[in-house]
Amino acid sequence: MNSCLTICLALSFFIKIFGTGAAPNYIYHDCPNTSLFSPNSTYHSNLHTLLSSLSSAATHSTDGFANATAGQNPPDRAYGLFLCRSDLDIATRSICVATGKQEILRRCPNRRVSVIWYDECMLRYSNQSIFSVMEQSPSPLLYDENVMDPIRFMQVLLETLNNVAVRASAGGSGKKVAVAEANITSMQKLYALAQCTPDLTASD
Ligand SMILES: *[C@@H]1O[C@H](CO)[C@@H](O)[C@H](O)[C@H]1NC(C)=O
Ligand SMILES: *[C@@H]1O[C@H](CO)[C@@H](O)[C@H](O)[C@H]1NC(C)=O
Ligand SMILES: *[C@@H]1O[C@H](CO)[C@@H](O)[C@H](O)[C@H]1NC(C)=O
Ligand SMILES: *[C@@H]1O[C@H](CO)[C@@H](O)[C@H](O)[C@H]1NC(C)=O
Ligand SMILES: *[C@@H]1O[C@H](CO)[C@@H](O)[C@H](O)[C@H]1NC(C)=O
Repeated sequence: MNSCLTICLALSFFIKIFGTGAAPNYIYHDCPNTSLFSPNSTYHSNLHTLLSSLSSAATHSTDGFANATAGQNPPDRAYGLFLCRSDLDIATRSICVATGKQEILRRCPNRRVSVIWYDECMLRYSNQSIFSVMEQSPSPLLYDENVMDPIRFMQVLLETLNNVAVRASAGGSGKKVAVAEANITSMQKLYALAQCTPDLTASD
């Protein structure tokens, strides 16, 4: 379940109401500057091919997930994937991936390995295969300073995330998604959503 849980945590957030076709809500990105490619290199052009095929796949992916590769040989081969929230319509999902394609290049110039998260989708690429591979970092945790009872909040958060992660990973073929609601205090509620990439099995 581990590789699933990681992605579940990365995709866990407070649900908001989104309009169809709206610009995605950026959360976070991560791209180490330790592994750079040269402008106009083969990796550079493979990366553009990769991101184009992912954003085109997003326009017809029914389960909101796709992986792709570009280029034949390491070290220039690029591997990428996106995962969109499966409760969103295809227009919203493809706008998210298309926005991510533009923004990841701007926020992560010349990086071989990058990931960007939005409320609606995540987009990721690397010079090594990342398909069905467990990654525990990076894992952004965005914390709302306005939580009324932080200790109780963390308890409820961990319990609820465990619950949704287990249920999402146990989902059959197709969408592996689960949602939950919990009371933090009588005034504040927690809404959680977990989603796993559809290529994972429950034992991952
Ligand atoms: C890489 O990032 C580190 C920490 O963020 C920074 O200190 C360093 O200057 C950066 N190196 C380059 C080449 O940009
Ligand atoms: C990359 O290619 C473009 C167009 O071919 C050229 O204008 C640019 O100077 C090149 N950049 C580098 C760093 O070689
Ligand atoms: C997608 O990932 C699977 C492994 O999870 C791999 O077998 C397949 O070749 C990948 N597809 C592409 C287009 O790279
Ligand atoms: C990916 O890039 C890193 C850093 O440049 C390098 O150490 C690693 O060997 C590369 N991986 C492959 C499969 O080429
Ligand atoms: C949350 O509290 C409300 C009323 O205070 C209660 O009706 C509801 O069942 C509680 N929900 C959960 C998940 O415990």
